[in-house]
Amino acid sequence: MKAIIPVAGVGTRLRPHTFSHPKVLLNVAGKPIIGHIMDKLITAGIDEAIVIVGYLGNMVEEWLLKHYSIKFTFVNQTELLGLAHAIWMCKPYVIESEPLFIILGDTIFDVDLEPVMKSPFSTLGVKEVEDPRRFGVAVTDEGKILKLVEKPDTPISNLAIVGLYFLHHAGPLFASIDHLIENEIRTKGEYQLTDALQFMIEGGETFTTFPVFGWYDCGKPETLLNTNEILLKNNISTKTYPGCIINDPVFIADNAVLENAIIGPYTTIGEKAVITNAIIRNSIIGNNARVGHIMLDHSIVGNNAFVAGSSQEINIGDYSEIRVG
Ligand code: UTP
Repeated sequence: MKAIIPVAGVGTRLRPHTFSHPKVLLNVAGKPIIGHIMDKLITAGIDEAIVIVGYLGNMVEEWLLKHYSIKFTFVNQTELLGLAHAIWMCKPYVIESEPLFIILGDTIFDVDLEPVMKSPFSTLGVKEVEDPRRFGVAVTDEGKILKLVEKPDTPISNLAIVGLYFLHHAGPLFASIDHLIENEIRTKGEYQLTDALQFMIEGGETFTTFPVFGWYDCGKPETLLNTNEILLKNNISTKTYPGCIINDPVFIADNAVLENAIIGPYTTIGEKAVITNAIIRNSIIGNNARVGHIMLDHSIVGNNAFVAGSSQEINIGDYSEIRVG
């Protein structure tokens, strides 16, 4: 089955990291976001990916071609007019009578897709959330979707659409997006996939939902770190390093150099990173980064970055009290 993966976005909420890297290539728990997604898709039987690239798209293209041998088609979205527009650009590469899977490029998931791919109806991955205003939501009745609303101002449902879409037939989706584009129907300035799906529902298409309990957002620094923490669970380091204490779970690249450091828990250390005299926990350290004489918590250090604190030499007497900033 074919999967469409839109990754054209700029990833503004993850700046400065996305100034030099597309969001989907940011490392979380030892591999790029898109690596986690591809591994799951391939396990679920996806044998062809249509990847919508845009911002720093050549880097995504290069990485995917180097690491996976399934068939790829890259579609260039030069103007970011919304998710529905991105999907619409894939029309020449999709067979309308065939099923289609769509997954957002910044959504790492943990769900068994096998039954989803066999669903007799189109079906959307959903998760209950406390504050649905940031998401597209689904209003359901006995498992069937009655209505979809993009970022509702009033709380009509707490079932967020999490970015996994199975279309039983691709054709009606493209007809629906044609309708949005021909009639200039935009929400918050963009052609929304939620609006296209809602138009299909109004036209009589049956949609169901499937629960996605493991849904790990990577769109913001705090969610990236949170996802790093969740994915690292059970990751045990087997190597020892001179003068180091490793508090599992961690991911430490084989060729990273560590000396006199306390690492973890929930820490990813990238390729060829050099860590000396440091305490690092709940953090992601990039490839070739150098970190020394510092304590880091909930931090993201980019590739090739250099972070150095200072160690002090002091000579103070009994009952003194000093605080070094
Ligand atoms: P987001 O809006 O969440 O991601 O789109 P973004 O634009 O990369 O990040 P911010 O908001 O600037 O921080 C969800 C997914 O849909 C893709 C994005 O690349 C992302 O994977 N997308 C969105 C497109 O490919 N094209 C679009 O026009 C819109």
